[in-house]
Amino acid sequence: MNEYAYKVTAAGRINIIGEHVDYCGGKVFPAALTLTNTVYVRPNGTNQINLSWTTLPDKVTLDLDKLESYQDLKYGNYQAGSALMWKRAGHKLVGCDMLQDCKVPFGSGLSSSAAMEVSTIAALAVVAGEEVDPVEIALLAQKAEREYTGVNCGIMDQYASACGKKDMAMLLDCKELTCSYVPLELGEYALVIANTNKPHSLVVSKYNERRAECEEALAILQEKLPITCLAELKKEDLETHKHLLREIVYTRVSHVVEECERVNQAVQAMQAGDIPLLGKLLNASHASLKNKYEVTGIELDTLAESAQRQGACMGSRMIGGGFGGCTISIVKQECVEEFKKIVSKEYEDVIGYAPTFYEAGIGDGITVTKL
Ligand code: GLA
Repeated sequence: MNEYAYKVTAAGRINIIGEHVDYCGGKVFPAALTLTNTVYVRPNGTNQINLSWTTLPDKVTLDLDKLESYQDLKYGNYQAGSALMWKRAGHKLVGCDMLQDCKVPFGSGLSSSAAMEVSTIAALAVVAGEEVDPVEIALLAQKAEREYTGVNCGIMDQYASACGKKDMAMLLDCKELTCSYVPLELGEYALVIANTNKPHSLVVSKYNERRAECEEALAILQEKLPITCLAELKKEDLETHKHLLREIVYTRVSHVVEECERVNQAVQAMQAGDIPLLGKLLNASHASLKNKYEVTGIELDTLAESAQRQGACMGSRMIGGGFGGCTISIVKQECVEEFKKIVSKEYEDVIGYAPTFYEAGIGDGITVTKL
């Protein structure tokens, strides 16, 4: 990669707890992974971004004056959307060659798209000689995801991808956009990431539907209560005003309110070294995402519930948007191999194909290296 000028990386992420609350102004508890998207970049003196990939034969050229027109590209749409948002924010956009090397498994719920968007924008900042401001880059990446690819997402993925720190979990307040870092210490336990390998489908429409349900609830409740977001809603107030909401909307909101409580409890449990309690909170989060928010499905439920049955496992839950993708489990270190074997078999017996387990550490957000 010597012929490139810079190597810029951004991370995939896990989320320990706090699912489907970021777009309700809640706190979430993610961490960046050592699985990253790397962009090798050099200015090319043209009016184009030339994209290539280490993992694909495709080559794509993006004209800097036509960035609006690449939404339907199979590959390169994330980069085009990212470049467009960078430009629209008034930044200097220069032609460049970008080689993309994505080590975050696609469609896995580990935020490969955020890693691509964040690293692309950071690379554009670097070749333009501009400052790399991770929070601004996260916000522009979120805009790309929302306005270019049509997923009305919250800020968790892009923020974690940009601002993560090695060995740290991030207590991210999605209303205030502030983050405090908490050492991710699990003592004798390990975090195991497992992919359902379920092919992604219908995820975008269902995700946007859940958001719309939350917005419906907020509009109704705001007529009675001085709240700016659902994360500010107290459980008692939800119960008092339950009759104003459609039943399904009430059920969704009760997930949001309880999940927000679980985040606070989980942070305290981790800081106190109470891993069994942390595990119980993960299990409760999964049950709520299954029964109340209805974003799991047979694959995620089979994987998480098989994990939860293992004696060496303190807790397990789906992470990310849901309907497929990954789970995380907290497992006694010395039992991890046995755990993987049993869960893999149980999953395959029900689903018909095996899950994939990933070895990944907790890593940094954006990194820039001059080559
Ligand atoms: C996806 C979105 C995030 C967040 C999660 C659910 O990963 O991109 O903003 O809403 O789903 O917690």
